[in-house]
Amino acid sequence: HGTSEINASGHLEIGGCDVVDLKSQFGTPLYIVDEQLVRERCKQYVEAFKESGLQFQVAYASKAFCVMAMCTVVEQEGLSLDVVSEGELYTALQAGFPAERIHFHGNNKTPEEITMAIKAGIGCFVVDNLIELHLLQAIAADMDKHVNVLLRVTPGVEAHTHEYISTGQTDSKFGFDIGNGSAFEGVKIASNLSNIKLLGVHSHIGSQIFEVEGFQMAVQKVAEFAKEVHEQLGVSFKVVNLGGGFGIRYVDGDTPLEVSQYVKAITNAVKEHFAGISNTLPEIWVEPGRSIIGDAGTTLYTVGTQKNIPGVRKYVAVDGGMTDNPRPALYQSQYEALLANRANDEEKEIVSIAGKCCESGDMLIWDVNLPEVQSGDLLAVSCTGAYNYSMASNYNRIRRPGVVFVKDGQSDLVVKRESFQDIIGNDLVPERIRKQAV
Ligand code: LLP
Repeated sequence: HGTSEINASGHLEIGGCDVVDLKSQFGTPLYIVDEQLVRERCKQYVEAFKESGLQFQVAYASKAFCVMAMCTVVEQEGLSLDVVSEGELYTALQAGFPAERIHFHGNNKTPEEITMAIKAGIGCFVVDNLIELHLLQAIAADMDKHVNVLLRVTPGVEAHTHEYISTGQTDSKFGFDIGNGSAFEGVKIASNLSNIKLLGVHSHIGSQIFEVEGFQMAVQKVAEFAKEVHEQLGVSFKVVNLGGGFGIRYVDGDTPLEVSQYVKAITNAVKEHFAGISNTLPEIWVEPGRSIIGDAGTTLYTVGTQKNIPGVRKYVAVDGGMTDNPRPALYQSQYEALLANRANDEEKEIVSIAGKCCESGDMLIWDVNLPEVQSGDLLAVSCTGAYNYSMASNYNRIRRPGVVFVKDGQSDLVVKRESFQDIIGNDLVPERIRKQAV
């Protein structure tokens, strides 16, 4: 998919770059991003919304993969940006991302984060709870600023991978519950605070969702709430943010829809349920993360050792693992892989791909069908663009891999592989400990 193909030498090629060459240039493990595919995904969202005729913003949920070059690419594609911490905000601002297109999320923003974001002049705060609302009001008043706010509401739609449950009371750490009246109370309070400009509400029902029903149900619940608020408080929502969560295909059997189908389902539901609440339909914002970057990412590893347990299993170890991709260990996520330097060879054996960390749970893939694997072969694991680099760790003091963007035969490093100095860079051995008598 994307710009990936197998070239005449039987090597995987992404963005016109042979991964065997990428290995010699940048080493492994290496995250490779198909920049063209990222740009296409951004365009698919923008085009689908334009088609709907509604006012909109598409904010890339940077938690999926937040580095400066990525911020630059989504900025160029006209997207907004969702950040959830001072670190993501700092990254975006350093990349020159326009502050007014940045939305600040999170259920526990610190006073320092709020101050930093107001100073930068960000476009909107997505406020999670009353304590934050009052804190934001106090800080904004102190700084003599007015801030745009969406209230995060819990619509009572729980999205599981394949089913949607409408619950009266959603058990979640996030947001104002619609069902128990706290969202109503939140709107009432927010619309009377002097330095808060309430733009509307936000709802996010989950991640890696394949079907549209959950989103449609959320739109309906939020619309019912908007109606209640309009009739009883005279408040109308200019903006309704429906979050992210649009699924992608990791392995056979995953059945996501096209970006345009998700957008169409949402915008149609908005037209249906918001008609007549106030004079104009609200502006619709969404926050896709995984579906922008997920399938554009590939991780390239070098195969090292093997352990064959006859009649049981063959373990093939690569030079990375749960440090660069914690998702299999955390969520039992499944991935596909191919032998990137001999991609046309006949598949011969079922092996399991192990990482190099010192624990048994460090497995990347159980049972994948590959040609006979040898030390020095290159293994490419696909769909690692989202929540891999952004969730990577230095467990076992393993250095985080570099990230390279490829497009039209060009490859450019956007994150350097960590150095040994990076590993010990924050370590201190204080005088008192060094001088300890033994
Ligand atoms: N908006 C909000 C408020 C969110 O909490 C999230 C994801 C998104 C947007 C983007 O969702 P996406 O389009 O990427 O599904 N680490 C997990 C995923 C956690 C998602 C957290 N929130 C994983 O690796 O699957």
